[in-house]
This record gives sequence, C-alpha cells and structure tokens, in this order.
Amino acid sequence: MTQHLDPALASAAPGGVLVVDFGAQYAQLIARRIRECRVFSAVIPHDMPADEIKALEPMGLVLSGGPSSVYAPDAPGLDAEYLRLGIPVLGICYGMQAMVQALGGEVARTGASEFGKTELNVLSRAGLLRDLPAETCWMSHNDSVVRAPDGFVVSAQTAGAPVAAMEHRETGMYGVQFHPEVVHTPFGTDLLKAFLFDACDCTPTWTPVHVIEDQVARIRAQVGDEKVICALSGGVDSAVAALLVHRAVGDRLTCIFVDHGLLRQGEADQVEEAFGEHFHVPLIHVKAQDHFLSQLAGVTDPETKRKIIGREFIRTFERESGTLGGVRFLVQGTLYSDVIESGSKHADKIKSHHNVGGLPDDMTVELVEPLRQLFKDEVRVVGAELGLPERMVWRQPFPGPGLAIRIIGEVTAERLEILRRADFVLQEEVRRAGLYRELWQSFAVLPAVKSVGVQGDERTYAYPIVIRAVTSDDAMTADWARLPYDLLERVSSRIINEVPGVNRVALDITSKPPGTIEWE
Ligand code: XMP
Repeated sequence: MTQHLDPALASAAPGGVLVVDFGAQYAQLIARRIRECRVFSAVIPHDMPADEIKALEPMGLVLSGGPSSVYAPDAPGLDAEYLRLGIPVLGICYGMQAMVQALGGEVARTGASEFGKTELNVLSRAGLLRDLPAETCWMSHNDSVVRAPDGFVVSAQTAGAPVAAMEHRETGMYGVQFHPEVVHTPFGTDLLKAFLFDACDCTPTWTPVHVIEDQVARIRAQVGDEKVICALSGGVDSAVAALLVHRAVGDRLTCIFVDHGLLRQGEADQVEEAFGEHFHVPLIHVKAQDHFLSQLAGVTDPETKRKIIGREFIRTFERESGTLGGVRFLVQGTLYSDVIESGSKHADKIKSHHNVGGLPDDMTVELVEPLRQLFKDEVRVVGAELGLPERMVWRQPFPGPGLAIRIIGEVTAERLEILRRADFVLQEEVRRAGLYRELWQSFAVLPAVKSVGVQGDERTYAYPIVIRAVTSDDAMTADWARLPYDLLERVSSRIINEVPGVNRVALDITSKPPGTIEWE
C-alpha cells in the first residue's frame, strides 16, 4: 500500500527525520525545529504503514505529543513496527508514553499533572542530556510514565514525573516527558541536536531552499497536465507560492491579481512590475476596486467584511478562470500559522482568515498550497532563492482582506484614502529608522470615532490614526513594539500635517493575547 507516499516526501526524506503526528499542535513545530538544525523534517500521519516509512529511508523518527491519554478509548495507537525499523526513535510527551506502553513499561494517572515551567533533575548526563545543566523544562501532561521499559536508563525526573527522560542507547530508543521543541525549554534545541547528530547520525546540510525541489515535484504530481491559476495578493506568501508553481508548470500557470482597492499605496504597481515584467508570468490584473467597495457599503461587522471579501475574491477568480477555459487548480500562499489560526482540529477558531476559513463551500476549484507546512521566515528564504525582489521578500505580512479590517466601521473611498496615506508615512519612517525588518508588522488603523482638535487657530473635528507595531516569531503571539519616541514624534507630526482628515495620533500598546494583531 502506498497511499501516503508522495514524490516530494520520497525525494526529501532520505537522510531526514520524520515526525509522527499524534494530534499535537506542536507536531509542525518539532519539524520546524529539526529543519532549523539543517536536517530535513516533515510531519507524517500516525497511521502511515511502517513499510512506507521504511521506504522513505529516514535517519530517525520523532513521536509527537498528543492531546489524549494513552488509556483513552480513541487514543491514537503507536504501531509497534515503528520501533523495529532499526532507526532511532524519540518519543515526546504522549509519544514517549505510547513508546513505553509498546515496550512493556507503565504509564499511570498519578494525580500529579504538570503544566508550564518545571524544575528538571538530571540523573544521567551520558546520553541526550550530556553537558546539560539541571534546568527548567516545559511540561504539559496529566499521565506519567511510572516505570520505564526494561533496559532503559532513567536520565531525568521532576517532582511530578518519575520518568521525565529515559533512554536505551543500544536500541536507539529515547523518550522525554517535557517539550524540547518550545522555547520555554531552554536546552530543547541542544537535546534535539544530540538526538539528530549523535543518535541518528544526521548530516546538517538541509536548507529551506530544498523546499523548492520538493514542492516542484509535489505540484507536478498534484496538477498533472492541467491549467493552474494563482491568487496573487501582493504579499510574500502568494508571490513565493506563485513562483514555485511557475517553476513546476511554466506557462500553464496564470496569475490573477485582484486589486480589491484595499491594498497599501503603490502595492498594485509593484506586483505588476515583479510578475509581468520581471518573471514574465502570465498575469491578469483585475481592477475591481469599485465592485468591492459597493459590496462593502454599509457593512461594519468584521466577520461580515471578511466573508464578503473572501467570497468576492473567489467569485472573481472563478469568473476569470472561466475565460481561461477549464482551470481546475487554484494556488494560495497559505502558511502553517494561517491553518492553525483558522481553527484546525485542536485550535479554537479566532478569525476566519480569508485565504482559508472564509472560502465558500461551493467553490469549484481544488487548492494547491505549497507553503502550508512552512513558517514565515522559511518562506522568505525560499522567496529570496527564487529571485523575488528584496522589497517583496521582506514585506511585512498583510491580511487578505487588506485595509478593510484596519478601518473600523464602514469602508468608504474617503476613509481608505486617509488610511492609505497615513500608513505610507508610517512605513516610510519605520524604514528610515532601520526598523522595518525587526518588526513583524507596523501599520496604521483608522477607528470609527472623531475627536476635537485645533489646527491653525481653528477647531477641527476629525479622525484619529492609531499606530500598531508588533514583534513576533509566528503571529501566534506578539508583543507591542517599543518604538523610539523620536520616531513616534516624526510619524505623528507628519501624519497630522500630511493627511487631511486626521487630527490625532495614538499608539496601541496591547500584546497578543489579549489583543489580536489586527484590530478586526
Ligand atoms: P491576528 O489579527 O489574528 O493576525 O492576530 C495574525 C496574523 O494574520 C494576519 N491576518 C490575516 N491574514 N487573511 C490573511 O491572509 C486574513 O483574513 C487575516 N487576518 C489576519 C495578520 O495580519 C497577522 O499577521
């Protein structure tokens, strides 16, 4: 049976380490951490047949955590064959408990759950915990391993976990109850490196650029001889996705750039220049500003705005693809963080990001999403390698619904113009201050209130602009950026002097959580 084998995985996996997904939100994070150590890694489902894994020739396996107890009736089972493949295996949290059960140790609900930062007592520094000081680690468990299987050395424990780390070096079996993949386990990367380079004997030669070959193979397999269209948004994600697909299928790709009129200043021109003129990708530029504005007239509810924009986007694509004659595939630059935020099995839905959750149910095209397993910084490396202009590679993330979700209340042509001009000033000053790349996002927001001011001896009654700037690694959490006062002063006075209709500038100092990055 070869149901899971796809050509991209088959070409990339030899020499890498595969992460078996037992349903943890962290499975992709583990794979990312391994890739950061320059070893290929991808997530595979826990029901993949062992002979298929063997055919992929990985150097090792990591069994991810999972939300269930090993005793739960619907607990995802570990195929014991995985432990007989002759390659090292590292079980993390639930993965370790499943390993312990399969090898004859004991897992129990002791009542001593541990969540968050936990003191770790290292008992043996011979194996994976070599050279590591006794440290804190990050725990999240109810059940505990109370007896390691025969032959294992218990190398660490905590107050609530008698077996917090265990290893059997001769057979290459390792387990940790804590999470080495999260930043709150300070020595986590060292532990993963010890597994990759000492236990598995991997060579650190992989870079995100390898994604190009993998995805080109995967895209060719998915689309065959069919025609493909790509939703270009102006941002780095859809641009990189488009260039990957262009490399895979050449002129069978047509990019459709819907200018919904909700973009930042100059953005539409830059897309036209990069794709049409530089890469010679067939490009249809749909100028639909008036249509979107009319659809948004009178709408103030954030989710309704998103749904309308998502719907109109897709309808426009469908119309345009009709003119191309029988297009079956639509490329989107969906990233891993978009998938999580739009509510996967284990994450609550926060907002319906229009490139995922806002798609209409009756959509008639199949999606091609070559970046779905990547994080933003990995996408940028791939984009640079593909020759995308630096200005686009380093463009800060910009939401699909664009300025519509940064205008609180109704979106009108007048309010769009105000926000666009204010945002332009902010971007220019942030770049001048050399801070653009350091910030995850920096942008202006236009609230739905007016306040009184005085300009040139005259009373004004006009909009405020709110400055929002955040630092983040992956948009899942974010901190408000401590922008220098002199920068804020320049931005404030320039916005008020240069943007008619604004008489006040405020600064948003909310982190995520409790705020979200965008205001809607
Ligand atoms: P929030 O506001 O949820 O945003 O903290 C997290 C990240 O996602 C971006 N974002 C979107 N991206 N379609 C997108 O493609 C959307 O509907 C959308 N909403 C938010 C946001 O800019 C931030 O980077």
